[in-house]
Amino acid sequence: MATHDAQIASLLDQLALALASPATTHGLARTLRAAAKEAELHRHHRASLAGLPDGVLQASPAKVQIGGGGHRIDGFFNIDIVPPADLLWDVREGLPLADESTQEIFSEHFLEHIDYPRSAKTYAREAFRVLTPGGRLITGVPDAAFVLSQYPAGPEQAEEMIARWYAKRDCRKDINTYLDLINYVFRDQDDDPTYNPHYWAYDFEKLSQLFTEVGFAAVEPWSFDPSVANPKRQWASVYVVATK
Ligand SMILES: C[S@@+](CC[C@H](N)C(=O)[O-])C[C@H]1O[C@@H](n2cnc3c(N)ncnc32)[C@H](O)[C@@H]1O
Repeated sequence: MATHDAQIASLLDQLALALASPATTHGLARTLRAAAKEAELHRHHRASLAGLPDGVLQASPAKVQIGGGGHRIDGFFNIDIVPPADLLWDVREGLPLADESTQEIFSEHFLEHIDYPRSAKTYAREAFRVLTPGGRLITGVPDAAFVLSQYPAGPEQAEEMIARWYAKRDCRKDINTYLDLINYVFRDQDDDPTYNPHYWAYDFEKLSQLFTEVGFAAVEPWSFDPSVANPKRQWASVYVVATK
C-alpha cells in the first residue's frame, strides 16, 4: 500500500516536470494534466479509504448527497471527491455505505461527470444496493432533450443559455454557434483540468432506462424542490426520482 502511494507521489512529480517542459506538445499536455488531476483525486480517495474499515461508513446516514460540491444540503451526508464534502470519496469506486442502509440519495449535475457505461452503471447498481426498500434515488442532470429540441436555435435562445450557464466562464468567445452550445452539453470542460468534463448526456428516457435496468421499480419526474436542489440548476435540467 505504502509502495503504491509512493509511486503515485512520484508520478505526480514526474507529471509536473513534463508539464513544465516547453518541449511538451499540446496533445501530450492535455493527457498529462488529466492524469495529474486523476492522481490527485486518487490520493483523496485513498486517504478516506484508509480511515474506513472495509470501505464502509459505520454510521448509516438516512439521506446522502452525491457530488454536491459547494451546495451542501441540511440533513444530508455529503459525499464528493473534492472538499467541502463530509467524505472525500470517488463514487466511481462504489458507495461506502452498507446494504439497504439509506432512505434517500440525491445528486444534481453530477451523473454526467462520470464515465458511461462503466461508472454510471456502477453508480446506479450501488445506489440500488444501499437504498432501503422503498428508498428514493433523486437525480438531476442537464436535459439533453431540451437542448437538442431548440436546434436550430435563434440568437435569443442561445443567449439565454449562455447567460444562464456560461456567463461566468471564459469560454464565451468560443461559443460562436448554437451547435457549440450542444457540444458543451456533451463534452463540457473537456479542456479544463480544474473541472470534471461531461462524459455522457441524459434525458428522461435514458435516466429511466439506466435505473430500471438495475432494478428500480419506478422512475418518475421529480418536482423540483429548492429546499433540497440548487435553484440555479432548475432551468433546462431533467430531474427524476427512482424508487426501489
Ligand atoms: C458540476 S459539479 C455540481 C455541484 C452541485 N451538485 C451543483 O449542482 O452545484 C459536479 C460535482 O460532482 C463531483 N464529482 C465528479 N466526479 C465525482 C466522483 N467520481 N466522485 C464523487 N464526486 C464527483 C465534483 O467534484 C463536483 O463537485
